[in-house]
Amino acid sequence: MVHILELPDFKPHCKVTIADVVLDLSYTYAVESGVISIEQLSRTLFAAQGCTAKTWGKCLRASPSAGATYPLQAYVETRLVEGLQHGVYQYVSPSPFKHLLEQISNKLPEGLGSFTVYFEENFEKTTGVYGRRGYMYVREELGHAVQSIILESSALNLAAKVRYVESSSTRVSCYVDIGLRGVRLQEKSFPVSSLPDPRPPSLCLEEAISIRRSVRKYSQAPVSSQEVSSILLWSLAGEPRPYPPLDGGYRINCYLVTRFVDGLRPGVYKYEPTTHRLESIGAGDYTRKLADACLSQEWVARAALNIILCTPSTEDLAAEIEAGMVGQNLYLSATSLGLGTVAVGAFFDDEVASVLGVSERPLYVFPIGRQ
Ligand SMILES: Cc1cc2nc3c(=O)[nH]c(=O)nc-3n(C[C@H](O)[C@H](O)[C@H](O)COP(=O)(O)O)c2cc1C
Repeated sequence: MVHILELPDFKPHCKVTIADVVLDLSYTYAVESGVISIEQLSRTLFAAQGCTAKTWGKCLRASPSAGATYPLQAYVETRLVEGLQHGVYQYVSPSPFKHLLEQISNKLPEGLGSFTVYFEENFEKTTGVYGRRGYMYVREELGHAVQSIILESSALNLAAKVRYVESSSTRVSCYVDIGLRGVRLQEKSFPVSSLPDPRPPSLCLEEAISIRRSVRKYSQAPVSSQEVSSILLWSLAGEPRPYPPLDGGYRINCYLVTRFVDGLRPGVYKYEPTTHRLESIGAGDYTRKLADACLSQEWVARAALNIILCTPSTEDLAAEIEAGMVGQNLYLSATSLGLGTVAVGAFFDDEVASVLGVSERPLYVFPIGRQ
């Protein structure tokens, strides 16, 4: 008989915002074993894969998914969770803000910390709709889910470590070990920059997680350079960045195509995360060309700006996961400011690269606008 354990319903606790969390990230602490509450475990899982709304009988989850195909299944190995037998459990969130665990083994799993979250990728769910492009989408989704765990575990004052595993040239996965905070391994430093200081978020992190949706309709009002600076700061800036390096390094470059941003001329910019600066690499409105490269998706054309994530390497699978991690930060930063965005993965790679004037592989386009 399957042992089922209902988890406490998810209700946002407003303790911290994304602006607070990026200063005190779980992955910058050593992970120690110690007893963790079911509440902490369930919030962490919810942030990755919890159901936040139901449309047409289908759950939409806390992390986005290409065409809502949801190829990821979350599992948790528990070692030291209060009131929960150690073992391996499957995570299920069948309706908005409700979730449960189904036990699949009661062996004591080896590993670091109090529990470990990992994902099984059912590629066929996504490749069945999108063909070969679907492999990239699934890896990007893995990045979204892992980063949501990093942010939520930070909000809960826990420590986390992401183990990136390459089991073959095509199969990669991530395990996230979570536990109590030990010594701080890295101090976060933010660069001093000419970009405006961030605007305080209007929502806390858990509110942003629970209401995040893909937004494709934008008013034609401009976005301010302070809002752009906030989004970039919380998504990418500083040393180390607001997401963990996979396999020891970062692989993503970030570009902006601006149209209606107060204080920034329309053009193409390269963003430098270490110094939090924008370098102009082309003047003029390139938005229509970018939208054409994105299969004429109108939200790209109507956005105040588009953020484009690229990698210099053509084959690097870790870069695709990293793009998802940055993507989750972009979604939650925009949501926290009351702005809208949507992950766009459908585009002609060479055309997007030519709009930017770079010889890199584009991985994601994020239109951003006022709702
Ligand atoms: C890898 C990936 C690629 C996506 N590509 C597109 C896209 O090209 N165009 C689009 O409108 N939405 C795209 N989306 C957004 C999904 O359609 C959206 O996440 C899904 O419908 C679930 O809705 P939600 O994000 O509101 O929860 C993409 C999402 C992901 C994760």
